[in-house]
Amino acid sequence: MLKSKDAKLQGLRVCLWLPAAEGGSFLFPGVLRRIDLMTVQRLFLSLEISEKQLQQLQTSSGISIHEAAWFLSRIREYHEGVFHHSCNVAWLSAQLAIKLGLTITEVYLQTLGALFHDIGKIAIPCSILDKQSRLNEQEWALVKKHPKTGIALIGDYEWARQLEPMIMLHHERFDGQGYYSVPVEKLPLSVRIIIIADAFDAMKSPRPYQKKRSTSACWDEIERCSGTQFDPELLPAFYSTISKIPGKD
Ligand SMILES: [Fe+2]
Ligand SMILES: [Fe+2]
Repeated sequence: MLKSKDAKLQGLRVCLWLPAAEGGSFLFPGVLRRIDLMTVQRLFLSLEISEKQLQQLQTSSGISIHEAAWFLSRIREYHEGVFHHSCNVAWLSAQLAIKLGLTITEVYLQTLGALFHDIGKIAIPCSILDKQSRLNEQEWALVKKHPKTGIALIGDYEWARQLEPMIMLHHERFDGQGYYSVPVEKLPLSVRIIIIADAFDAMKSPRPYQKKRSTSACWDEIERCSGTQFDPELLPAFYSTISKIPGKD
């Protein structure tokens, strides 16, 4: 449950690059959940997926946007920063998937996998998520568990199987030096997409321990880590994706 008026209003700033949801009273959790549903709907509309296509995708994948909105509510109620980051990574991942020519079904699953890639963070104390200084060893060990925790949180749902690699492997790297040292041959394209989108938004957004960077500074860092952290083949399409981000740096 959000605690202050400011926090309630912040909940409307759905994503850095999506227009804010409009209208409504913000006094009741039910209304806020309806806004979470609108967030998911607007996310897909921004990808030019029509309502009819969205209906078909929900049926064919077995993942309803109502269910997605329910899980998004859990994230928003727990931590605003993780909520905004999740929306941003979903938008970036979806745009990149479209640029790479993936099918509409793949784009749908990509968007949802990215939306929930950090759901395991709702099991990390906010005092750690918001810590202003470097994490100690125990805190860092807890943070590193969040992909596995994410799987544990949604693993009971049959539909979630399709999203599991994106949740479990999003901290892997192209050179195999990620959280669980998974080699690149075992990283599906959906995962390699999230790895780059996740890193970009982490650099672009202000964090307790770092100032936000400009888009060009983030891009320089991504280029520097091409072939080590990121799949080099995704860089041209990602450059074109971030060029679409509206507004000033
Ligand atoms: Fe993560
Ligand atoms: Fe993330």
